[in-house]
Amino acid sequence: MSYSKEQVRGLLLKLADMIDENKQMLTDLDAAIGDGDHGHNMARGFDAARVKLAQGPAEQDAEAMLKATAMALISNVGGAAGPLYGTLFLKGAATVKGKEELGLPDLADFLKAGIEGVQLRGKAILGEKTMLDVLIPVQASIAADAESGEPAPQSLEKAAALARACAEKTKEIAATKGRASYLGERSIGHIDPGAMSSCLMIETLAELVKGG
Ligand SMILES: Nc1ncnc2c1ncn2[C@@H]1O[C@H](COP(=O)(O)OP(=O)(O)OP(=O)(O)O)[C@@H](O)[C@H]1O
Ligand SMILES: [Mg+2]
Repeated sequence: MSYSKEQVRGLLLKLADMIDENKQMLTDLDAAIGDGDHGHNMARGFDAARVKLAQGPAEQDAEAMLKATAMALISNVGGAAGPLYGTLFLKGAATVKGKEELGLPDLADFLKAGIEGVQLRGKAILGEKTMLDVLIPVQASIAADAESGEPAPQSLEKAAALARACAEKTKEIAATKGRASYLGERSIGHIDPGAMSSCLMIETLAELVKGG
């Protein structure tokens, strides 16, 4: 099963809608352990991405659309998450260069390169109560499924459930990176907003792939 550039455009627009619908919830999560701007930061970035996608030529390939999204996130989102998600999309975009059709192995490669970019920039590892606590396990699960030839809809359904469990699990962690680290132990008991936005993105992707 593979996906075309039209489906990538559809995904990016769906992500923008999803972030808009969830911006208050994400901002509320950030209000508990940060500065209460994550949802609104992300919505500003994805609104800018929507405009860029609409302005771009219709024949834009997947790499160009993902790059445009990355640049919109980097240049329109204040705070830590904008540049970090922007880096994820930018490094990921490079891995789809020249590909007409995308499948599960391509998604695994996209996430792998994206995560490496986020880690290079943000210096966080697994278990520090950040978006990486969702992204790293999800990438590993998708990569293993790609290796064993699991169909994309099933793999992503699994990945979405894993993403939700990992986001919930950030409640148990004391933040050691980002603004929430100022609270230390007092950040325990709260879900990390970036982990939740990553979870919602994986769930959105899974829904889309399930729909065919
Ligand atoms: N070093 C990092 N590596 C990975 N993710 C990080 C890092 N620092 C923060 N994050 C993620 O960013 C999220 C916060 O994003 P947000 O949009 O609220 O930026 P911010 O923390 O308000 O930025 P700033 O402190 O620069 O104003 C966190 O929930 C966390 O998941
Ligand atoms: Mg914040």
